[in-house]
Amino acid sequence: MVGGRGGLDDRARNPINANGDGMSTAAAERSVDPRRYFEAAARERGAMAAADPVCLYLETTNRCNLPCTTCPRTFEDLEPAANMSWELFRSIVDQFPNIARVVLHGVGEPLMVPNLPRMIRYLKARGTYVLFNTNGTLLNERRGRDLIATGLDELRVSLDAAEAEAFKAVRGKDAFDRIVKNVREFRALQRTLGAEKPRVSLWLTGLKETIGELPAFIDLAHSIDVPEVHLQRLVFFADGQGLARAEQALFEHLDAREEALIREAETRAAQHGILFDASGATEPGTSLRRAQEDRPWSLCTRPWTLMYFTAHGRALPCCIAPFSMRGYDAFTLGDATQQSLREIWNGETYQKFRHELLSEKPPTCCGNCGLRWSL
Ligand SMILES: C[S@@+](CC[C@H](N)C(=O)[O-])C[C@H]1O[C@@H](n2cnc3c(N)ncnc32)[C@H](O)[C@@H]1O
Ligand code: SF4
Ligand code: SF4
Repeated sequence: MVGGRGGLDDRARNPINANGDGMSTAAAERSVDPRRYFEAAARERGAMAAADPVCLYLETTNRCNLPCTTCPRTFEDLEPAANMSWELFRSIVDQFPNIARVVLHGVGEPLMVPNLPRMIRYLKARGTYVLFNTNGTLLNERRGRDLIATGLDELRVSLDAAEAEAFKAVRGKDAFDRIVKNVREFRALQRTLGAEKPRVSLWLTGLKETIGELPAFIDLAHSIDVPEVHLQRLVFFADGQGLARAEQALFEHLDAREEALIREAETRAAQHGILFDASGATEPGTSLRRAQEDRPWSLCTRPWTLMYFTAHGRALPCCIAPFSMRGYDAFTLGDATQQSLREIWNGETYQKFRHELLSEKPPTCCGNCGLRWSL
């Protein structure tokens, strides 16, 4: 039995556990930069994780008010519509009180969750770095004031276009002007209150259809006082629904014109003093090219550094899998309503998943993955 108890020797299961007791090292004992948490994984990785996760992704809701053409939520019912209950949220985060970083989105729109400010306050009271992505449609003054008061660290607005028509084509609704107004007013409110947090950024998913807008997207960010822009790599669906199709992705298909657009965006960002990057890459082009690796999935450290829970408590390996493969059953790794997080983290299913990820035959959801897919 691959990866199951008895199927691997102890060194393979737990190569760097200093305690020698089969328990993982608590995050508190390690110094983790929450913005570079993915570096926390040990270089030597086995089926068993030697340390606790340093990051949690919590799908605070799977509900949404946009039908984006790149999002799996638009095309399939993943789980029954729900917000994560306060009880489930507490039971998860209380098991890792020293976790370095918590991301409060999965597949859904976090600003639809009434408990969101309470959740952020709860995490900030113990010093966790907290962030989430939002579509920005519901960022009115009341929610904006609430968010600022929580001490939220980062607010990432997924805008995906520099003007209304392209926005509608990608995000499925005519909401561009409202979102831009919301973000502009939120930044103005921050200035008025002298609030440096949250750091606000604009995100554009790299599609053939919208990459032409990238330089204007930088200008737009500047005009509404947003200091950071991120180009994120499209994760495309195998069955090619909506705009999340292989031929739309810039990855592996960057031509000279697109390279030039990225360079132009870099130039404008430098002129405006805007920080511009692509999914954690040091320079924007990097994440769009295939890593020089035969087995790109082998670069992934997510199953050794983070846990992801849906609104119902289902454990998934990461935030990419729901995009890269249909249906959750093939990559469900546990259930937080039935098991403790540590039982899940080094349980048989997780070990089997890690074992396969380190092999020539990765789990299906991982087959096309590279290091820098970041949602
Ligand atoms: C699923 S959304 C959840 C949070 C929120 N609803 C939003 O749109 O920001 C998380 C991120 O995934 C991005 N996204 C959507 N479809 C994608 C795809 N096929 N590939 C990569 N990122 C995608 C969104 O733009 C967003 O930044
Ligand atoms: S990308 Fe975000 S806003 Fe768009 S459908 Fe998915 S969850 Fe909703
Ligand atoms: S789907 Fe991709 S990001 Fe997620 S665990 Fe697999 S290789 Fe890593």
